[in-house]
Amino acid sequence: MNPNKLTLAALAAAFSFALTVSAEDAKLPPASDKKDVTYATDLKPIFDANCVKCHSGEKPKARLHMDTLEGILKGTKQGKIVTPGDSANSFIVKSTAHATSDKDEWMPPTPNKANAKTLTPEQIGLVRAWIDQGAK
Ligand code: HEC
Repeated sequence: MNPNKLTLAALAAAFSFALTVSAEDAKLPPASDKKDVTYATDLKPIFDANCVKCHSGEKPKARLHMDTLEGILKGTKQGKIVTPGDSANSFIVKSTAHATSDKDEWMPPTPNKANAKTLTPEQIGLVRAWIDQGAK
C-alpha cells in the first residue's frame, strides 16, 4: 500500500468507529464538560430531590441506597448501576435517560407521589461527567 492509501484506510476505520460509538450513545444526552464533578458538590442535590424518598431508609426500593456515595456505588440487589469511567454503559444513565427497552426501569417512575422529577438532559449530562471522571 502507498502512504496515501494507508491514510485513507486509517481515516475510514476511525470514521466507522465514530459511527458505532454515536449509534450506541444516540439516546443519551452528552456528558457535561464541567471539570471536577463530584457526588458531594454536583450530584447529591439532584439525587436527594428525585431518588432518595424511595431509595433510602430501612427498605429502599431494589435495595438501592441513593443517599450516600457508598450506597450508589454498591448498587441494587441485582448489581452495580455505575461503571466508573464508562457513563454510556452505566445503568443509572440509561435508566434516567429512558434508554432501556423496559419502561419499568425508567427512573424515577412517572407519575409518582414522591414529587420526583424526570432528570433534565443537563442533569443527566452531569451524572455522565461524574461517572466518566471516576465517580468520586
Ligand atoms: C417514587 C419512588 C421512586 C423514585 C422517586 C425513584 N425510584 Fe428507583 N425504583 C423504584 C421502584 C419501585 C423500583 C423497583 C424495585 C424492584 O423492582 O424491586 C426502583 C428500581 C430502581 C432501580 C433498579 C431497576 C432495575 O430494574 O434493576 C434503579 C437503578 C433505580 N430505581 C434508580 C433510581 C434513581 C437513580 C432515581 C432517581 C433519579 C430513582 N430510582 C427514583 C421507585 C423509585
